[in-house]
Amino acid sequence: MNSSKKVKIGVIGAGYWGKNHIRVLKELDLQEKCEFIGISDLDITKKQLAESLGIKYYQDYKSLIRNVDAIIIAAPAGQLFRISKYALKHSKHVLVEKPFSLNYKNGVELVELAEKNHLTIMVGHIFLYTPQINKIKQLVQDNKLGNVFYGYSQRLNLGIIRDDVNALWNFGPHDISIFLDLFNCLPSEVNATGLTYLQNRVEDVVFLNMRFPSGVFVSSHLSWIEPVKTRKVTLVGDKGMLVWDDASQDATIQIFDKGVVLPENWQELKSSNSFGEFKMKVRFGDQLIPYVASEEPLKNEILHFLECIKTGQNPRTGGEHALNVLKVLLAAQKSLEKNGQPQKIK
Ligand SMILES: NC(=O)c1ccc[n+]([C@@H]2O[C@H](COP(=O)([O-])OP(=O)(O)OC[C@H]3O[C@@H](n4cnc5c(N)ncnc54)[C@H](O)[C@@H]3O)[C@@H](O)[C@H]2O)c1
Repeated sequence: MNSSKKVKIGVIGAGYWGKNHIRVLKELDLQEKCEFIGISDLDITKKQLAESLGIKYYQDYKSLIRNVDAIIIAAPAGQLFRISKYALKHSKHVLVEKPFSLNYKNGVELVELAEKNHLTIMVGHIFLYTPQINKIKQLVQDNKLGNVFYGYSQRLNLGIIRDDVNALWNFGPHDISIFLDLFNCLPSEVNATGLTYLQNRVEDVVFLNMRFPSGVFVSSHLSWIEPVKTRKVTLVGDKGMLVWDDASQDATIQIFDKGVVLPENWQELKSSNSFGEFKMKVRFGDQLIPYVASEEPLKNEILHFLECIKTGQNPRTGGEHALNVLKVLLAAQKSLEKNGQPQKIK
């Protein structure tokens, strides 16, 4: 697309999450970073929101799509594929909310449609647009934690209770996208256990485990029936440990210079009979809170989308990434249905 032209953009779905996209787009429009055309929502009361912002309202999403170059789709999970496909078929760039698609065939169809028509397709895995993830990635790459033994994440809250997707499909895309990006590969095996309390066959709580080819083990606890809002990622390495508390006031990362003192011949000792004679010592060092700039992830995400449309570059959460996350979700869902049986990922 001509890089001097402002991208005409709109939002489909002006509900809980779509309203955030709308707020950010209005701000970007005022900064002349795009041309915010309007919104579409089946609920006609959303017309007032459009009027208050001086943008157009369309009840039918197809009418909005006709009037834009690019569209952000924040409709319920079950509708994302149909609307994305329509937009791509009509040569529009698409930023679609998670979960990208509910089956692999549909996901591939979207990616292929975008490729064929030279369009940008991107999924709203928002945590990859936080400055924190870049910091953590850098720390891992710089070996600040040493060899990562394992990690875990907790994405817990009371509500929003969904009836169209379970806790795996609702929260899991975030955690999976974080760990895939951090370790730069797919897990080789996953398993998941789910618990249903409130509704039939919709898991309110999911424990998802992922084993990466490097041997790193990662576990995610996902639930919408928890007393305390928690969004944490913890990594435990042989040189250091790290906690990213995204629900804290500054979404801080804490690095702990703590660990177990391992002798040089540790691997040898570990497999020998003399291991029992060896006393492990723990090490306590400083605790560091690195500076991380305060940025709005959703603004970063949308700016990245606009940039990719202009330059034709592949988004960080583009088609390949979206399909990889989908592979993990589908394998985890299969495991859920088989009482936690491990599933290999190819
Ligand atoms: N990235 C994130 O962190 C994040 C957070 C929350 C939700 N989401 C995603 O955003 C999407 C929306 O979630 P939500 O919590 O805002 O749901 P919501 O139910 O609050 O909002 C959905 C809106 O879409 C409208 N809608 C439904 N079908 C439509 C159609 N065919 N055309 C136009 N409008 C239509 C509804 O009227 C409603 O206003 C979901 O896919 C969800 O997974 C992402």
